[in-house]
Amino acid sequence: MADKVRVGVMLSGRGSNMQALAQYKRIADPAFEIVLAASNVPEARGLVLARRFGIKTWAMSHVGRDRAEFDRLVTDELRRHEVEVVALAGYMRLLSPDFIRAWQGRILNIHPSLLPAYKGLDTHRRALLAGEDYAGCSVHLVTEELDDGPVIAQSRVKIRGRDTPESLAARVLEEEHRIYPQALDSFCRALWEADQPTISSALKK
Ligand code: GRF
Repeated sequence: MADKVRVGVMLSGRGSNMQALAQYKRIADPAFEIVLAASNVPEARGLVLARRFGIKTWAMSHVGRDRAEFDRLVTDELRRHEVEVVALAGYMRLLSPDFIRAWQGRILNIHPSLLPAYKGLDTHRRALLAGEDYAGCSVHLVTEELDDGPVIAQSRVKIRGRDTPESLAARVLEEEHRIYPQALDSFCRALWEADQPTISSALKK
């Protein structure tokens, strides 16, 4: 696609999902392009990776800042880069209601569980302790409730008898890297087709 949906990725850590999103164009002609990687952790490895892909980066520590004020700064930066869709990729910070409203219906997240099961942190350890047969990951739209928005893609991973949280996390992560780019691509394609003449102007309002 020539005219791609402009995506801003938000991350706080190692950035392997950001990398999977950035690399997707090697195997497909995605409907999206990543125009910015933004982080609340200036030393995040994901930012280094993003720069290697030629993606612009922005970082500011949230420490000592009010959440709403910090999120306003992030929104300003995303808008400066004319971002149309936000992809959370290991962004380890709750978003303010104002941020979610500003990007209503246009924030995606990848979560390492089969939502609605195991919202929040430490998903793999909790799934193992509960004796589940399957773990997995979900791509969902972000709403004001944590890990609660509509699921748009999911992949199941069989739990093995000898799994540890780490071994399970590694197999689930492979699935995250597979489904997140596909889900973001489908989402952006649908958005582009539905909204094409007005998408940029509407977002600038
Ligand atoms: C992933 O497990 C993702 O599901 C969760 O945070 C982790 C981020 O990993 N939201 P990475 O930074 O993308 O490697």
